[in-house]
Amino acid sequence: MKILVTGGMGYIGSHTVIELINRGNEVIIADNLSNSKKSVLDIVEAITGKRPEFYEIDVADKAELEVIFKAHAIDAAIHFAGLKAVGESVSMPLEYYKNNIMSTIALLECMKAYGCKAFIFSSSATVYGDPAVLPITEDFPLSATNPYGATKLMIERILTDFQYANKDFSVTLLRYFNPIGAHPSGLIGEDPNGIPNNLVPLVIKAAKGERVLSVYGRDYSTPDGTGVRDYIHVCDLADGHIGALKNADKPGVYIYNLGTGNGFSVLEIINAFEQVNKVKVPYVFAERRPGDIAACYADCGKAEREIGFRASRGIEEMCRDAWNFAKSM
Ligand code: NAD
Ligand code: UFG
Repeated sequence: MKILVTGGMGYIGSHTVIELINRGNEVIIADNLSNSKKSVLDIVEAITGKRPEFYEIDVADKAELEVIFKAHAIDAAIHFAGLKAVGESVSMPLEYYKNNIMSTIALLECMKAYGCKAFIFSSSATVYGDPAVLPITEDFPLSATNPYGATKLMIERILTDFQYANKDFSVTLLRYFNPIGAHPSGLIGEDPNGIPNNLVPLVIKAAKGERVLSVYGRDYSTPDGTGVRDYIHVCDLADGHIGALKNADKPGVYIYNLGTGNGFSVLEIINAFEQVNKVKVPYVFAERRPGDIAACYADCGKAEREIGFRASRGIEEMCRDAWNFAKSM
């Protein structure tokens, strides 16, 4: 297939591009490099032997996007492009609403105009808010506690309404849990432009001696008191998109959780990271981080039944690959 990957230079996008190329698809990337680097193209080429065509554009700019649709008969679009930092979204809500919503609408308008009928969207487990019970299935109630989460909820709604009005479209909403790790080559991984605020990039900084990790909260109602999440290897997540492409020629709206189904606490992540990589991760306990929930993990049965998705990489592999990439930076 010929696939447009918006945000394909970013963390999850680049790993998915590699997987798409490895499976024989032709990939076109649209990215404004607001949170990624052009050198990603060289790395993708080094790993796959193919250099995807790259358009440095703002996906929210419909005229720029249209250039791609004029030049290529696109079969499906995977929409990763977006701003993703929860804290930043609270202080810069308009940038988040504008970037995330407008890019989705511009993409949908182009797809409709040029007859591209399969849309795969990067949603997030954040749309479940603070779940009453675990594991989370796709029919749980949805809510948002910050502008970032609100954009994900709103885009899910926009896509669902759009599909209702355009019955020949296929829309797949992928709700990612916590992607970590890196490509096993060690050549590519999570390399954001700013200061990280997710756990594993901060564990890495602590292991490098650049800072002490703060463990946010030790009194949650979890086995060891620290927050529990469903961490998924980014390469497994990439595979989930290959699975989602199975729906590309089936009109409808499809929603899947992409996780492993297992929860790990912050302390378990630190211990696994130290053991598998033979490093020390200095940490202190700190106050709970505002907005955090105690625990969150997925029921991934639906994705397994319908698109054959099942994560295969364990927590040790995630920690090993994350460090393997980070060491080289
Ligand atoms: P990322 O920041 O590494 O990648 C996003 C890419 O999109 C970047 O390369 C950035 O330059 C690009 N981009 C942003 N706005 C753009 C625009 N208007 N036009 C063109 N390019 C633009 O983030 P990621 O971790 O790879 O996340 C990808 C998607 O998955 C995002 O939509 C994110 O919200 C979602 N998601 C991520 C996580 C996570 O923990 N990483 C969890 C759930 C969902
Ligand atoms: N944590 C710490 N110290 C840190 C950073 C995080 O103890 O320095 C803890 C958090 O309190 C939480 C766990 O590590 O218990 C994971 O935190 P992350 O920030 O890595 O991830 P979140 O689960 O808070 O959020 C992430 C993404 C969101 C996304 C959500 C669900 O950042 O965008 O997963 O997919 F919505």
